[in-house]
Amino acid sequence: MQNTMLTAEAIIENARKRASEEDAKTFTDKEELSRQEAFLSLAKEQTGKLSELLGRTPTYCVVNFGCQMNAKDAEKLSGVLKEAGYEETDREDADFVIYNTCTVRDNADQHFFGRLGRAAHYRKKNPWMKIAVCGCMMQEKACVDKIKESYPYVNLVFGTHNLFRFPEYLADVYENQNDDFDPRGRKLYVVWKDTKEIVEDLPSERKYPYKSGVNIMFGCDNFCTYCIVPYVRGRERSRKPTEILREVEHLVSDGVVEIMLLGQNVNSYGKDLETPVSFAELLGAVAEVPGVKRVRWMTPHPKDMGEDVIHVIASHPNIARHIHLPLQSGSTEILRRMNRRYTKEQYLDLALKIREELPDCAITTDIIAGFPGETKADVVETLDVIEKVHFDNAYTFIYSKRTGTPAAAMEQVPQAQVKEGFDRILSAIQESARERTALLQGKVLCALAEEENAQEEGYLTCRLSNNTLVHVKGDPSMIGHFYDVRLDTCRGFYYFGTVLSENANGY
Ligand code: SAH
Ligand code: SF4
Ligand code: F3S
Repeated sequence: MQNTMLTAEAIIENARKRASEEDAKTFTDKEELSRQEAFLSLAKEQTGKLSELLGRTPTYCVVNFGCQMNAKDAEKLSGVLKEAGYEETDREDADFVIYNTCTVRDNADQHFFGRLGRAAHYRKKNPWMKIAVCGCMMQEKACVDKIKESYPYVNLVFGTHNLFRFPEYLADVYENQNDDFDPRGRKLYVVWKDTKEIVEDLPSERKYPYKSGVNIMFGCDNFCTYCIVPYVRGRERSRKPTEILREVEHLVSDGVVEIMLLGQNVNSYGKDLETPVSFAELLGAVAEVPGVKRVRWMTPHPKDMGEDVIHVIASHPNIARHIHLPLQSGSTEILRRMNRRYTKEQYLDLALKIREELPDCAITTDIIAGFPGETKADVVETLDVIEKVHFDNAYTFIYSKRTGTPAAAMEQVPQAQVKEGFDRILSAIQESARERTALLQGKVLCALAEEENAQEEGYLTCRLSNNTLVHVKGDPSMIGHFYDVRLDTCRGFYYFGTVLSENANGY
């Protein structure tokens, strides 16, 4: 574990010194980028022809499922479609509809197939419509086979590993065998197993003008026994710090004030780079980029989250006071069977260290109820951790059996017992979250105005550094700015408050 911090300049300097092997890789990425740019030009020409035929600008709709990683990918898909000349709509009968899927739990799969079924109906209304499916589910052969068999109206299927080839696929869908434009489109199924390539600089269309996710790494090597992610997102690969910092600087110059660093397992960041850079160093460097007013990040793994990360947060007021630290279970035996590689005590030590060194920092978590072999005594262990850490909030999931993962072959817990454990964990979490939220009553804290409140007219939803939401009276021109807000009325997990003044720092 390193405690000495590198400055942004030092990180860039280190990156420049990198060996020739990695330069060769950059060259390949650049070649791939030019290929994709060429396809994007072709796609633009095709969109022009389509426009003439339709007598209007063609529209696109990205339907997104899943985590922050998918949300970021959706922005890349959107960027390519916009660049190709399409106009965005949220209507699912658009001329190009793309479903970006998640497969982390079975209900995600069910939900998606329901939506895809409805697409047949839209297709009848809009004969020009093209339907594409991508994302994590499409890395599973059984899902791709199901689409081929039961959803013949799907035009394009591709997986997470080749998302950077989307310009190519978009162009290909509109080509017939003679390489001519064909508005009826054709069928393409292109799912790759794995890739080490990271192609930088393809277009991206941000959902929010003032905040943005930034991928720092892709994939996961942890293989928790319940989890499908390592199978559908591939092996861990880090982006170069120079590329990350370049993107952050570009985002800031484009009006972004909040950056969220994204990875499935951020503590492993940089280990695969020629000159290793730790996550703590990267986090500090990003926070020091001029104009970055708030930095968020997710997700750490408790087994290798070092104190260096806590120290970097402590010394940078613009790093959000929020750590999402997935527990999964409070039972050491269940954690062993989950292959989480930490014990209940190690988790508690880490969480309590955070509480001690960052007293205003929220700790949230993920918990799975009903993992194979879980007994009532194991649930009691989880409840004990909830009580001791006093979580600020949590996502509680019912264990979902994922084909191909080691836990799928383990003996499953009877449904009634799963439900009982889930209910106990959920109510403990809700109580803990209510108590933690109530502690903020009357405080004046800095909040970022994020969006208009859909329920209360004339109100904006703002977010505190610790991720708690506060609704205030205000107008849309305030969105994207920070304010000192007094937290007046606690409503369980959120507040109603009053704006006192603008806050230029963001903390
Ligand atoms: N990389 C992150 C999160 C990945 S998925 C991490 O390690 O925490 C997000 C959450 O989904 C996980 O934290 C876990 O709680 C939950 N999850 C993953 N697989 C699951 C499964 N098979 N059943 C139920 N929940 C699951
Ligand atoms: Fe899944 Fe575990 Fe990787 Fe998180 S760390 S993505 S839970 S395998
Ligand atoms: Fe789902 Fe893929 Fe994220 S499976 S949770 S969208 S990495």
